[in-house]
Amino acid sequence: MSSHTLLEELVEIARPFASYGKVANYIPALSDQNPDDLAICIYSIDNESFYAGDHLKKFTLQSISKVIALALVLMDNGEEEVFSKVGMEPTGDPFNSIAKLETHKPSKPLNPMINAGALAVTNMIKGNTGMDKWERLIEFISHLTGENVTYNEDVAYSELQTANLNRSLCYFMKQHGVITGNVEDLLVLYTKQCAVEMNCVDLAKIGAVFANDGWDAESGKQLISRDVARICKTFMVTCGMYNNSGEFAIKVGIPAKSGVSGGIMGSVPGRCGIGIFGPALDEVGNSLAGVKLLEGLSAKYSWSIF
Ligand code: DON
Repeated sequence: MSSHTLLEELVEIARPFASYGKVANYIPALSDQNPDDLAICIYSIDNESFYAGDHLKKFTLQSISKVIALALVLMDNGEEEVFSKVGMEPTGDPFNSIAKLETHKPSKPLNPMINAGALAVTNMIKGNTGMDKWERLIEFISHLTGENVTYNEDVAYSELQTANLNRSLCYFMKQHGVITGNVEDLLVLYTKQCAVEMNCVDLAKIGAVFANDGWDAESGKQLISRDVARICKTFMVTCGMYNNSGEFAIKVGIPAKSGVSGGIMGSVPGRCGIGIFGPALDEVGNSLAGVKLLEGLSAKYSWSIF
């Protein structure tokens, strides 16, 4: 059986699981996504791609952007500065929880994959103005995909209007000196970052760069330093699938990062990147059919890193 046919088959096995999930609606513009959509691309580190489902359909990155922004900020600012503002430990709490910001001392977010930590990371993107910072980020993402990537204005605006929980995380962190500057400007940048839009092929390509220790075979460039790629993949394992990261590590065992749009980026070290889009989510915010699809793939190809 060809790899394309096998992938089509795995997609059809996973698709029915979407009916147990729900499309995110706390960002109003995401609520009109079709819950039955399911698409996947596998992108090898030497640039071969295989896909199944509607692989050209675009979706927004949401939390997947957190791992990309982290890579940029670590390269720009160095580990010491970044980890003085954000920790390295999983939380076991929902991605938007505020609880540990108060109870955990020092008052800094526990890791860069939860919303508080991601906001602190985005606050460290270099640039004199919000526009400079945005251009730095979108240029980096465009290099990673090899395409001219942009963002979905409706989704960004919709999140900005309703992001009061993220607003409160920012004000809390500003009070404690974790973030500096204007909170509303940070939220504009963060919501644009989360609304960066691409298809599963572009996403799998980014996963492949992480899988290849930051080296991009297409451009022949080291786009992410080896160390930073290692740190990002480690966070994907420990915190990438939120408070389901432990079960995911056992059942799938691939460094991965999810987003509430239904995207998942996977990175199989030394082999390939994986991009998935399936917007029906489980209760913690991960794509339900997407996770099932990864379980099938990991078992079939023995891709668990454990
Ligand atoms: O900040 C938020 O709530 C969204 N822009 C991203 C959250 C997200 O994707 C969590 N993912 N599972």
